[in-house]
Amino acid sequence: MEVVICPNEAEVGAVAADRVISSIAGNQTPVLGVATGSSPVQLYEELARRIEAGEVDLSHGLAFALDEYVGIPPEHPLSYKETIRRTVQEPFRMDPARVRVPNGFAPDLAAAALEYDNAIADAGGVDVQILGIGTNGHIGFNEPTSSFSSRTRVKTLTRQTREDNARFFSDGEAVPTHCVTQGLGTIMEARAIVMVASGEHKADAVAAMVEGPVAGVCPASILQFHPKVFVVVDEAAGAKL
Ligand code: GLP
Repeated sequence: MEVVICPNEAEVGAVAADRVISSIAGNQTPVLGVATGSSPVQLYEELARRIEAGEVDLSHGLAFALDEYVGIPPEHPLSYKETIRRTVQEPFRMDPARVRVPNGFAPDLAAAALEYDNAIADAGGVDVQILGIGTNGHIGFNEPTSSFSSRTRVKTLTRQTREDNARFFSDGEAVPTHCVTQGLGTIMEARAIVMVASGEHKADAVAAMVEGPVAGVCPASILQFHPKVFVVVDEAAGAKL
């Protein structure tokens, strides 16, 4: 694990963008793994600037999102499908057919999850996976005690994650209770991983991921077993390292 501590969030985005680009250098059809949440926003904006500048072209690549809420229609502004369209698909100039998000609205969620996991493998696997981390150490929506060998599947969201994400939902709108998420085993198959985190509320999770024991209570700690992980954090998120 290589850990880079940056002075601020903008620098996190710039350093992480360098890592993403170097991980796919020379690859005209990269397969990106993309996360939602606030953490990768600066990274996506930085990549969009570099696409604009002609430094990199991701339009011939593919993107696979990590996760999706169950029961939220894909066109809902808070669905991860819609979030990825706004933050990745359009700024990265990718055709919608090249961007996949798990289907949390499928009649048979288990079958859709399996099909999604297989689609990643059929695409040759993920070249570089972008990750954020939950305050409880989750990656994707793999909550504490998730199996280290898990594949894409339906999971129940913890109370803490629902509270963390409630800020995105308007008053009176129910925060989903379930999700479909790539498994820890799925995520670990990516050839490179770029993890970004900012803010003091992430400091405990970042320290547990990097320096704690590899244990189900901190799902992100499994990244200690991955051969190519770049952790890019600001000073606040790195304060407990
Ligand atoms: C969310 C997502 C994760 C994300 C994490 C942190 O709920 N499922 O993919 O990395 O929790 O979110 P944020 O970056 O907004 O802090």
